[in-house]
Amino acid sequence: MTASQASTSASGQQWEAESYARNARFVADLAAPVVELLKPRPGERILDLGCGDGALSLTIIASGAELTGIEPSPSLVAAARARGIHAVRGDGRALPFSHSFDAVFTNAVLHWILQADEVIRSVAGVLRPGGRFVGEFGGHGNVAAIVVALRAAARRHGLDESEVSPFFFPTPAEYAERLTRGGFEVDSIELIPRPTPLPTSIEGWLDTFRAPYFLALPDESRTLIRREIIDLLAPTLCDSQGNWTADYVRLRFSAHLRE
Ligand code: BEZ
Repeated sequence: MTASQASTSASGQQWEAESYARNARFVADLAAPVVELLKPRPGERILDLGCGDGALSLTIIASGAELTGIEPSPSLVAAARARGIHAVRGDGRALPFSHSFDAVFTNAVLHWILQADEVIRSVAGVLRPGGRFVGEFGGHGNVAAIVVALRAAARRHGLDESEVSPFFFPTPAEYAERLTRGGFEVDSIELIPRPTPLPTSIEGWLDTFRAPYFLALPDESRTLIRREIIDLLAPTLCDSQGNWTADYVRLRFSAHLRE
């Protein structure tokens, strides 16, 4: 991976289009319900916040909407453009648009940004009055088994636990309160447990989503700690045939900007 192919997000997470497609295609594949909640209409101007490689954006474009994707990773912006998507590089906390959108859509992105109020303020700033903010991300209890195993291994080795779960996984009540304070009326918000089969096992998940954590571990104990985490998780997340399923919990919401 070269510097131009990878990008570091606010969480220190790096994204590279090829490995993301291999290990995390399910992120777009399982998002049909949140696209249904968006109900994109022909001619609507929709911003896809964190469009990734654009796989999901295409399903919104198929409705006839005019979509712009925004994404911090140059590698993923390039992958989205290769699909013919109008994608620009940028940060959800400071959306670089002066015109207004009919809707902002987001899938599997907001748990990576701890400054939730900044995102909400930035989204409100690019919507027309009455415009929709519809999305899904990790909610309270998301990947709890994985987080506990990471924490247990860190504790056992006397390591700093603060980087184990650098995620924003709010309850519906907390996120609804933030949306309301940010000028939105919440139309629906719910937690949805969604056990998620992992196509490349827990190894692929850890490589894709927790790489910075492992890279920061001491060289001499990295392999051992990773093995301990996988051994802790196997009885809970791996079935008798070796298939891994992660304990995802989605927070799905639909809101509109008060007029
Ligand atoms: C999620 O999509 O819920 C997620 C993915 C990676 C790390 C944390 C959460």
